[in-house]
Formats: sequence, structure tokens, C-alpha cells
Amino acid sequence: MDFVEVKADNRELIDKIYSNELESFGVMGGADMWMLMSFVRYGQLYVLMNGDELLSVAQYQGVMSENAVFLYGFSTVPSQRGKGYGVELLIKTHEELIKKGIEKIYLTVDPNNIIAINMYQKMGYLVKELQKNEYGKDVDRFLMVKELV
Ligand SMILES: CC(C)(COP(=O)(O)OP(=O)(O)OC[C@H]1O[C@@H](n2cnc3c(N)ncnc32)[C@H](O)[C@@H]1OP(=O)(O)O)[C@@H](O)C(=O)NCCC(=O)NCCS
Repeated sequence: MDFVEVKADNRELIDKIYSNELESFGVMGGADMWMLMSFVRYGQLYVLMNGDELLSVAQYQGVMSENAVFLYGFSTVPSQRGKGYGVELLIKTHEELIKKGIEKIYLTVDPNNIIAINMYQKMGYLVKELQKNEYGKDVDRFLMVKELV
């Protein structure tokens, strides 16, 4: 498996990532092309690949007030789920973010998304609070945090 930091000129890969956003999240929660390019240029966009095939995607924004990032989006291509790629990408991104001096990762997750919550807990993320109506009426989120140092 190859761990790749996506660069702005890799349009073919960015198009694949965008297709996976639609497939993985539908109309709610996925990143559009505007957001993807902002992760690439001003945050971090990392993927796990098998040759030309996209496996998993991690999208990070910087947190201005501290040495931290917000994991905006994380997904594995539907046909590749349950094979350990999500965990593999998280491990690689943690290593990379530590090298950049990042100390903490924030993310939010649907409290009903047991698969994702299991994965994050397995990787040392802790639920810090329930954010009621965070993304609109009845759209609650768990705030989870991973300390990298
Ligand atoms: C959540 C997601 C990224 C997991 O990716 P993945 O590559 O399938 O995950 P992995 O195969 O590395 O599995 C990691 C862990 O997730 C959990 N998990 C995976 N599949 C599961 C299932 N069917 N039921 C319960 N837990 C499951 C387990 O804890 C697993 O570790 P284990 O195999 O040691 O038990 C993937 O399901 C996905 O893309 N979902 C849609 C998008 C999404 O919800 N993203 C998270 C938004 S915050």
C-alpha cells in the first residue's frame, strides 16, 4: 500500500477522491471540489493507494489557536471496507502529523456511526462531548479527540 500526500497538480487523483466523497457520503457531509482544494493547499489531504486504486482518504484542516488539526472527513472506498485500510491510513497520518509538530486531532462523528466510533476508539480517540444539533436540528455529533503526544 502507498501512503500519499495529495498535491494540487494531481487532478486525476483529486477527481477519484471527489467521486468517493459522493459515493461514501452522498449529499450530506462529503467534501466538494472547493473544500478538497482547500485541504490540499491549506490543510492536508492524505490517501492510501494500491497502485492507481484509491483505498482510503483523510482530510485535515488546521486549528489556528493550537498545534492541532480537525479531521474533517475520513472514508474508505465502499468496496474496500473492513480490510484494515482505515486503521492503516490513520496510523500513517498520525506519524506524519507528529513529524509536523501536531499534538492533537479533533473530529466529529455521528453518534450512530458505530463502525467509525469503534475504529477511532481502537486508535486512541476519546469521546469528549455530545454536540447537540451541531449540524442542524437533530443532527448531533460526538466530539472525539486524539492526543498525539
Ligand atoms: C468508518 C470507515 C472509514 C472504516 O474504514 P475501514 O477501512 O472499513 O476500517 P478498517 O477495516 O480499518 O476497520 C477499522 C475498525 O473499524 C471497526 N469496524 C470496521 N468494520 C466494522 C463493522 N462492520 N462493524 C463494527 N465495527 C467495524 C472495527 O473496530 C475495525 O477494527 P477491527 O477490524 O480490528 O475490529 C468506513 O466504514 C467508511 O468509509 N464509512 C463511511 C464514511 C464514514 O462514516 N466515515 C467516518 C466519518 S467520521
